[in-house]
This record gives sequence, C-alpha cells and structure tokens, in this order.
Amino acid sequence: MSEIIETTQKKKVLSCIQPSGMLTLGNYLGALKNWVAMQDEFDCTFAVADLHAITVRQEPAKLRAQIYSTYALLLALGIDPEKHTLFIQSHVPEHANLSWLLSCNTQFGEMSRMTQFKDKSAKHANNVNVGLFSYPVLMAADILLYKPDLVPVGADQKQHLEIARDIAIRFNNLYGDVFTIPDAYIPKTGARVMSLQDPTKKMSKSDDNLNSWVAILDSKDDIIRKFKRAVTDSEACVRFGAEKPGISNLMTIYSAITEKSIADIEKEFEGKGYGDFKLAVGESVADALAPIKTAYDEIIKDKKALEVLYKQGAQKAEYVARKTYFKAMKKVGFVL
Ligand code: TYM
Repeated sequence: MSEIIETTQKKKVLSCIQPSGMLTLGNYLGALKNWVAMQDEFDCTFAVADLHAITVRQEPAKLRAQIYSTYALLLALGIDPEKHTLFIQSHVPEHANLSWLLSCNTQFGEMSRMTQFKDKSAKHANNVNVGLFSYPVLMAADILLYKPDLVPVGADQKQHLEIARDIAIRFNNLYGDVFTIPDAYIPKTGARVMSLQDPTKKMSKSDDNLNSWVAILDSKDDIIRKFKRAVTDSEACVRFGAEKPGISNLMTIYSAITEKSIADIEKEFEGKGYGDFKLAVGESVADALAPIKTAYDEIIKDKKALEVLYKQGAQKAEYVARKTYFKAMKKVGFVL
C-alpha cells in the first residue's frame, strides 16, 4: 500500500514598504500590524522598497540610514527573518528586470489614471520623473515575482494592486500562465489613518506639519502631546460620523489599537469630554508602540547582525524571484 504523504502548502503573502522617512502610525495600523499577524498562517515575503524611494529626490546618506532603520524596525515589530523572507528590494535585481518586461505590457493611459501619481507630481512639481510615473509597474513586479495570494496594504495602495492584477492577467493571456493573480488584504479598521491636524488628509510621514503624524518610534510624551493637539470639532461628544472627521479618526485609531468596537467606545466615553478621550487614545497608542521602540533601539546598534540578515533575506528572495523572472523571459521569447 502506498503511503500518502500529505503536504499542506501555506498560502503566500507579499508586501513592501518604502524607506522614505520615519514609519508612521498609519503604516503600522494600515499594513505592518497585519504583516506581523499573518506570519502564523502564511508563508510571507516582506521587503524594504528602496528602489521606490528614489522616485522622489533623496539625500544619499539619509537614504542609506533610512534603509537600515526600516529593516531594523521590521525586525523590531516581530517579522521573523528565519521562518519568512525579509530583504531589501535593490538586492534582488529581478525586480527592476521584470519591471521592464511589464512596462512593455502596460499602457500609458492606465498609468495616467493613478491618483497617487497625480498627487505626488503636484507635490514634487520640479521633479516629475519617469520613475514616478511608472512606479506602479515596479510595484507590480515586486508582487508578481513571488506569486503571492494576498498583499497586505493600506487603502491608499488599492489602486496599485488593481493595476498589478490587470498587468498579470494581460501577461498571462498573452504568453501563458506565469503569474498568480493576487488579492489585496486591507484591514477593516485602520486602512486609512488620517492626519491629526487635517483629518481630510491621509497621515503621511512626508507631511511638513510634525504634529500631524505619529512615528512608530516617537516617545510616549510626544505621542500624548500630538493626540492632545489633534484637531477635533466643537461639539464635545465622542461619536462617530462623517460630520466629525477628526474625532472619527481618533476613534478608528483607538479601535484598531484596542480592538474595541466603535459602539463600545461611544459607550465608554459617554458623558466624558474630548480631553479624557484624547488622553486615552494617546496612552493606548504609546503603550502599544513602546515595546517596538525598545526592541528597535537594541537591534539598530548591531549593523553586522543586520547585514547577515538582509544578505540571507536577499538570497532567499532571489531564489524565488529568478524562477518567475526566467519563466516570464522564456514565455516572451528571449533566448536563455
Ligand atoms: P508606503 O511605503 O507608502 O506605505 C507602506 C504601507 O503603509 C500603508 N499606509 C497607510 N495605511 C493606513 N493609513 C495611512 N495613513 C497609511 N500610510 C501608509 C500603505 O498602504 C502601505 O501598505 N507602494 C507602496 C510600497 C510598495 C508595495 C510593493 C506594497 C512597493 N512595492 C508591493 C505592496 C506590494 C508604498 O508606497 O507604501
């Protein structure tokens, strides 16, 4: 009787983050919290998307420091580089290579519709480079090389995910089955964390108003101060609603951190003022982030240990990326 060997293949997850400054509470609640949680159930690949960062002008020494710092922060959050794959995008040349194959199968009109390009080109009007325009193609390459089932991201990346799917479907139809069609994995709460100073805008590390965003590595005092100063409305009543974007944003953050429902939060703060509520939000965020900062401060001290990990990560990533890349090359008709 033949022995039946049961192999349970875990589903795959891929995501990346740009090292373009301090990572924020928005990055944490929209994406990174899920990255950490998904490690139990999925086979995960995560990267520091340094190639993406140069679509806007970067100071070389600062960029280098930010790449180290982002990698260290991902370790501090609890990404396990032994069980999963954690690497730096530019160390795996297949990302840029596949991006060229995909560029030649992506239409100018499709790229022109990307809202992030419109926003960023308005913001960096003196440097509207071709990389900024074709950035979603590189992002599609990042994803498709690893054949993930799910891509955990915040809501702002949904449009880029959709174009990655469109590119993959078109490529597969033209050349045969090469890519898996991935789904976005967007959290129910915290998918779009808004600025603390202007709740109609996304919380972003590139916002010049430092009170508008909380860094994962901010001190407890800074975090509490920023929440105390958060813009709300004049009706001092903790209630969720479109007409109360400031307080609704704070409630969303509190809900994502504490996992309490919005209805429970309304009950908890019934009859209390905004001062009490803002302090509770600030404290819950500071308490959740404190252990990450402690771990980060240790990890960033040892650059040699970091180097061992990111080199191992690149090797693991490249093993997978090469296979997909060569398959795509062969299908397109290149001589291998
Ligand atoms: P990036 O580096 O801007 O952001 C990293 C992740 O954080 C999420 N995020 C937010 N979520 C909720 N509220 C916010 N205010 C907020 N700000 C940021 C983003 O949605 C993202 O998930 N293009 C990507 C990086 C990338 C990528 C990829 C992602 C490159 N290649 C492949 C997935 C797969 C970016 O610029 O994210």
